Amino acid sequence: MILVKTLDLLANNPLSQHKGKSMLQIDEWNREELLALLALATEIKSMQKSGKPYQPLIGKTLAMIFTKSSTRTRVSFEVGMYQLGGKSLFLTDKDLQLGRGETISDTAKILSSYVDGIMIRTHAHQDVVDLAEYGSIPVINGLTDLYHPCQALADLLTIQEHKGILQGIKLAYIGDGNNVINSLALASALLGLDIRVATPPGYEVSKEIADKVKEYAIESGSQVLFTNDPAEAVTGADVVYTDVWTSMGFEQENAKRMKDFASYQVNEKLVAMAKLDYLFMHCLPVHREEEVTTGVIDGPNSVVFEQAENRLHAQKALLATVM
Ligand code: CP
Ligand code: NVA
Repeated sequence: MILVKTLDLLANNPLSQHKGKSMLQIDEWNREELLALLALATEIKSMQKSGKPYQPLIGKTLAMIFTKSSTRTRVSFEVGMYQLGGKSLFLTDKDLQLGRGETISDTAKILSSYVDGIMIRTHAHQDVVDLAEYGSIPVINGLTDLYHPCQALADLLTIQEHKGILQGIKLAYIGDGNNVINSLALASALLGLDIRVATPPGYEVSKEIADKVKEYAIESGSQVLFTNDPAEAVTGADVVYTDVWTSMGFEQENAKRMKDFASYQVNEKLVAMAKLDYLFMHCLPVHREEEVTTGVIDGPNSVVFEQAENRLHAQKALLATVM
């Protein structure tokens, strides 16, 4: 009975041939595939809410490698695997020989012989690329210094739930040109959201990523703006998004960043320029009264806790598809 339901969910779906595919960065998946992932996430979420089991991963194991801290990513992947019928292994660089100098390529080959997928959170994006290249199982990026694709999936699911559509939604991001906005801007451009990114001078999204965002936007018919002016980005926005000013691994720059980002706080004055029914979003964890005021993040327009919950549903769709 469970097996029949599993086949139903992935049959006649653009995702039916995606077993084994990695998610290193969001734009390795095209528009049609991303929309199918969001549709599957919606279906899996509604099954969970109505108490129906969906367990396509019985007997499957996910290795989860963390060299940075995590609350949401760790717990949502672990719980997600359990709910899908599989098992997960939580591994830090202290547990693995990786932390004592064993190579990524050897680690990839060894893990490929024991488990069915790897989720990794680490600093260098190239390490994640190498893991996928040398291994023979799907690798999911659970955040690197460059990208956070699983966050972008959950973000888009949340926007779709609240706004009913994605095409034409005006998304303003204020803050650091970091991993979170890199993935979110790429995904938004693929799916036709209008994206406006306001960063302080010196903290812009790289030219390489900005060029890709612009290229995808031309294909999807969306509008893109990269600016240093938060007001320009937020005026008329449907979604106002921010993230910490100092990401993991950049702590030594914290004092300078506090000064450089001081006029980039998302506060009541700024969000007054957005649409009345704007959504406030943040990937969390948040530093209240730094990048956002308490009034905004804990106010009526904030959807940050639903956004965090949607990590679970979006990642279950991804896990069920690739494993
Ligand atoms: N948003 C996010 O990735 O949270 P964690 O760092 O807690 O995993
Ligand atoms: N940009 C943040 C996101 C944390 C989920 C960081 O990399 O620390």
